[in-house]
Amino acid sequence: MSRICLLLCLASIFLVQQVASSSEWSYICQKGNCLKVRAEQKESAISLGACRLMCSSYASLWPKPTGKMEFKKSLIQLNVNSIDVLMPGEDTPVKRLVSAAAQRFKKNIDLLAPENGRKPGGRSLVVNLHLKKTGSDKVVYQQDETYSLNVSVHTDGRIISDIEAENFYGARNGLESLSQLIIWDDIRSEYQMLDSVYLKDGPVYPHRGILLDTARNFISTDSIKRTIEAMGASKLNIFHWHITDSQSFPYTSKSAPYLTKLGAYTPSKVYSSQDVDEIIAFGKVRGVKVLPEFDAPAHVGEGWQDTGYLACFDKKPWQKYCVEPPCGQLDPTQDGMYDVLELIYKDMIEQFDPDIFHMGGDEVHEGCWDSERKIAEWMTDNNYTLNEAGFIKLWDKFQREALKRFTKQRGYDVPIILWTSTLTDEKYLMKYLPNSTYIIQIWTTGSDKQIRVLLENGYRTILSNYDALYFDCGFGSWVADGNNWCSPYIGWQKVYENSPAKIAGKYSHLMMGAEAALWTEQSDDASVDGRIWPRAAALAERLWAEPKSTWKDAEDRFMIHRERLLKFKVNADSLQPEWCRQHQGSCSTDGILNMP
Ligand SMILES: *[C@@H]1O[C@H](CO)[C@@H](O)[C@H](O)[C@H]1NC(C)=O
Ligand SMILES: *[C@@H]1O[C@H](CO)[C@@H](O)[C@H](O)[C@H]1NC(C)=O
Ligand SMILES: *[C@@H]1O[C@H](CO)[C@@H](O)[C@H](O)[C@H]1NC(C)=O
Repeated sequence: MSRICLLLCLASIFLVQQVASSSEWSYICQKGNCLKVRAEQKESAISLGACRLMCSSYASLWPKPTGKMEFKKSLIQLNVNSIDVLMPGEDTPVKRLVSAAAQRFKKNIDLLAPENGRKPGGRSLVVNLHLKKTGSDKVVYQQDETYSLNVSVHTDGRIISDIEAENFYGARNGLESLSQLIIWDDIRSEYQMLDSVYLKDGPVYPHRGILLDTARNFISTDSIKRTIEAMGASKLNIFHWHITDSQSFPYTSKSAPYLTKLGAYTPSKVYSSQDVDEIIAFGKVRGVKVLPEFDAPAHVGEGWQDTGYLACFDKKPWQKYCVEPPCGQLDPTQDGMYDVLELIYKDMIEQFDPDIFHMGGDEVHEGCWDSERKIAEWMTDNNYTLNEAGFIKLWDKFQREALKRFTKQRGYDVPIILWTSTLTDEKYLMKYLPNSTYIIQIWTTGSDKQIRVLLENGYRTILSNYDALYFDCGFGSWVADGNNWCSPYIGWQKVYENSPAKIAGKYSHLMMGAEAALWTEQSDDASVDGRIWPRAAALAERLWAEPKSTWKDAEDRFMIHRERLLKFKVNADSLQPEWCRQHQGSCSTDGILNMP
């Protein structure tokens, strides 16, 4: 670097700081809203970030905490180069998780600010984690995720934050909240945080998820990781991986590799064992459990062509045999098919170590099985009638044997999730699906009477009602003209207001939670972030807090959270003009809209 450049470069940094430490604009807090105003004194202007910490409800935490929260409206400068996250005890798997979570905590704080022009100085931050259980690092279904967080300034000047939790996953939630109490002040060019906070917090529902379909279109591991990163930041905890379907088989089965070789879109559009391991590990650090789904007997196709176990594959016209092309269903009459199924289960069990598993089981089409002569003959020979009752019996045969093979590989019983379907209709439900084994994931509308039937009969349920939680709705159709089947687009407000407790009424104890679903017929790496985010964060607060208040009370914090996700390199969709963010409470209205 030449001397002249050195001088010029220094001069330009100096200039930036001069400009940055005073501002034409400031923010004032008015009825819980931060409003942009002309600065009366440019040198003491308040940044938007600082205003939000002190003015927004819950210091702008997302999701909002469910327990007591107290904080002083005073900020202190933080030295980001001096942050320590400490936990006593020797090197254990949990301790390794803690250090990975600590690294992520620091990295995400670092991402809040531009690399250049940070003013030096500020206090050190010491985070002490106190975990009651430090033995296993397994992400257990329905585990304790509560924590308490206490921030105060020690007499020696350091900022001390104590986080108490039952286990790593609760402590991690505490770290997440703490990171949201730290902001970048773009007027002073420094990090600031609240200096006195006490908070007790924990989720209402144990199952808070996102379903991602990686078979209709392939989703790269980087995109999956971005999704999980944003889940961690929003305290969602279940990544439901719809990993295969009739269009492609990107999952690498160690025991039946031909399924992947034949079934993947291209040799590079596969998830290697290492990819899967990495995603699972990435999830753990972020408190996210990866829950695999192997959907069957429908929703299979590519990959299975050479097995002889595939019925009606790519049969036309597809409308007669399935709900979208290409058609395909497993042939339940062939014993060899269950052997292949068992190999897939074995691989998945080895890799995911599941304490809960998803078997899909949706959209089985009579027309498909009926169209295969050998299946119809087998049914006749075995006294199955060739009508709905007979096909349901055949489906039941499949489900029973599939469960048996899964349980044999797992070695013990785990809860099994199935989608709502004809099999979960009132007339078949109790006969075929024991309520002790099966959890039913609801994808009909939130007002469907089937929900009541499930709950009255003691089934635990997970809500993915398509009228509020299918994020693929509201785009053009891909099989005809016009809009796609579940249009219109679902706004975040509707997602936020979709309350499992309201839908379940007196049976809300049977609601495990909900999942937002992104079926990817019409999205891939290019659009996956924007389809899911920030709407899934609206679900996150609904499930974490089950608030009595409406979306309007959450709007300002929601928009702040969207900004956070952008900082973490998640391309969360834009929902309003930036002006509304700078003038909180000035845009949304209860009145009649006069839109052009
Ligand atoms: C928070 O920590 C400070 C400093 O250790 C302590 O004085 C205070 O009692 C703690 N608050 C709560 C509610 O535990
Ligand atoms: C089918 O029903 C007939 C008549 O009731 C009976 O003789 C036969 O054994 C049955 N076959 C099977 C496979 O159950
Ligand atoms: C679950 O199913 C069993 C067996 O059909 C039934 O007796 C029981 O009442 C059901 N549980 C609940 C909570 O309804």
